[in-house]
Amino acid sequence: MVVSPKIAPSMLSSDFANLAAEAKRMVDLGADWLHMDIMDGHFVPNLTIGAPVIESLRKHTNAYLDCHLMVTNPMDYVEQMGKAGASGFTFHVEVAKENWQELVSKIKSTGMRPGVALRPGTPVEEVYPLVEGETPVEMVLVMTVEPGFGGQKFMPSMMDKVRALRQKYPTLDIEVDGGLGPSTIEVAAAAGANCIVAGSSVFGAPEPGEVISLLRTSVEKAQPTT
Ligand code: DX5
Ligand code: ZN
Repeated sequence: MVVSPKIAPSMLSSDFANLAAEAKRMVDLGADWLHMDIMDGHFVPNLTIGAPVIESLRKHTNAYLDCHLMVTNPMDYVEQMGKAGASGFTFHVEVAKENWQELVSKIKSTGMRPGVALRPGTPVEEVYPLVEGETPVEMVLVMTVEPGFGGQKFMPSMMDKVRALRQKYPTLDIEVDGGLGPSTIEVAAAAGANCIVAGSSVFGAPEPGEVISLLRTSVEKAQPTT
């Protein structure tokens, strides 16, 4: 396999009042990563959690915490997120045009894996320099809904971005986020996505473990065989 599937339930759809138990439940059901949506009420019109919650959760799990920062000033959060125990730190390219190099270096030196996300309206070309830079990001997150809320409808037109990235970067981790589930995974996996965020489709399912394994199987099947 050129890239491995990473199935990342979005904890935004979990019961936040029972976060440790929800995290354990997802890991026990086969989740590879736990996707943590950090929103500042400014970059997006919603306010969720921050480093203190990551720090608390870290005491209960060894899981990879895939943190998606929907914030206007990502630089301000690198140190605290690193100390809190975040594993991946994905910032939005729209707010890092001036300082992405410094930001990526700081994320790495804080012991996290850097990723870059793009909103639906942002052209994919904007992330190319970050993947090809001297200190490159290690993941690109293609938003398949407008960031801010779970439970929205998947935008198939975003698959052009995924295809373009996969063609250029065969071994890059490409994540899709928003509206992913059994009815949309085939198109995303075929386009080349290997990291799959899924909130409502996992937490809203009678058997979340079955959804997680279905997502994984779709990514595996879509992998090139040569
Ligand atoms: C949206 C978040 C997503 C969200 C996905 O801004 O980035 O991670 O939780 O939720 P679903 O899978 O329900 O679309
Ligand atoms: Zn997210």
